[in-house]
Amino acid sequence: MEIKKVGVIGCGLMGHGIVQVAAQGGCEVIAVEAQQDFLDKGLARIEKSVKKLAEKAVEKGKATPEQAEAQAAATLGRIHGSLDKKDLADCDLVIEAIVENLDVKKALFKELGGLCAAKTIFASNTSSFPIGEMAAASGRPARFVGLHFFNPVQLMRLVEVVRTDATDEEVFAAARAFGEACGKSPVSCKDTPGFVVNRLLVPYMVQALQMLERGDATKEDIDTAMQLGCGYPMGPLTLTDYVGLDTTLFILQGWKERYPNEPAFEVPALLVKLVAEGKLGRKTGEGFYKWDGDKRS
Ligand code: CAA
Ligand code: NAD
Repeated sequence: MEIKKVGVIGCGLMGHGIVQVAAQGGCEVIAVEAQQDFLDKGLARIEKSVKKLAEKAVEKGKATPEQAEAQAAATLGRIHGSLDKKDLADCDLVIEAIVENLDVKKALFKELGGLCAAKTIFASNTSSFPIGEMAAASGRPARFVGLHFFNPVQLMRLVEVVRTDATDEEVFAAARAFGEACGKSPVSCKDTPGFVVNRLLVPYMVQALQMLERGDATKEDIDTAMQLGCGYPMGPLTLTDYVGLDTTLFILQGWKERYPNEPAFEVPALLVKLVAEGKLGRKTGEGFYKWDGDKRS
């Protein structure tokens, strides 16, 4: 069960990175977006990132300029944009990376179940929703996994591969092998809320937000404390800006609805307020901090 042709739906923060690492891993990739301008933006981000990685490879002596350029061109040549899901019909694997909304995801998988060949494996990059519910909606639960990549996909080395009780053993093995081909180290997870990383990470982000709400420390001091005190590459509030305040809110609201008595899944009022004000983090230029591209102020 070899994965050679991959479809990725959603070419935003996560989707563009998944498209890129799949192409770097040698797959033909079709990137599907809802609108041309979003597709153009996603493809432009990929081009910038591929060029940056090529420059780095030369700097580090891992490739000559000619080799790096040829590799970058080959990666970009394997990527095709589309606005039509019908183009995914003969893919070996289709990965969904659209908005964190379970109803929207289920509707998408129901549609894909009718469009794609019987061989096609489906995967969701969801941060928090049950893989089993999307698998049921797709009509092919045996050929369904979670493939949870991390942001920024190009640099983070983990992929969580999530199986349900219905996932076929060969499908699971093929999904793990695909993760490895993308240059990632896969870990196996059961279909539990947040899998491994987000079950630990999101409650930690909530605690940081509640600390800020209470006025226990400034945002800068909370972030510096966790960077220098624990050796984390970024503090929790910078990280929330990085993930997207909207995505963080959708994760927590979904969990709160399902597990109303779990204190770790409280929705901080400050998060609701900032999202209502359109301050979604780095992607809108402001969240807890102001952002100019990668630069925080
Ligand atoms: N493509 C190519 N190159 C990139 C890049 C990309 N997408 N993003 C950054 N780079 C380059 C930078 O340009 C930089 O290059 P130079 O050295 O030439 O300047 C280099 O990579 C390193 O980047 P930074 O200077 O920003 O340095 P860094 O050492 O801080 O690394 C980081 C950045 C890897 C993001 C690091 O800060 C980090 O690990 N942060 C934590 C990220 C994290 O926790 N992610 C998980 C989020 S949770 C999640 O994803 C799950 C969910 O469901 C919500
Ligand atoms: P995003 O808002 O940056 O991107 C989503 C993209 O999907 C948008 O470009 C949108 O136009 C597109 N889209 C929406 N509906 C579509 C449809 N029906 N057909 C085609 N395209 C459609 O969001 P994101 O941060 O990339 O998150 C995507 C998924 O990945 C979510 O499930 C999220 O929980 C998960 N995730 C996010 C992170 C993170 O750090 N942001 C990390 C891991 C997983």
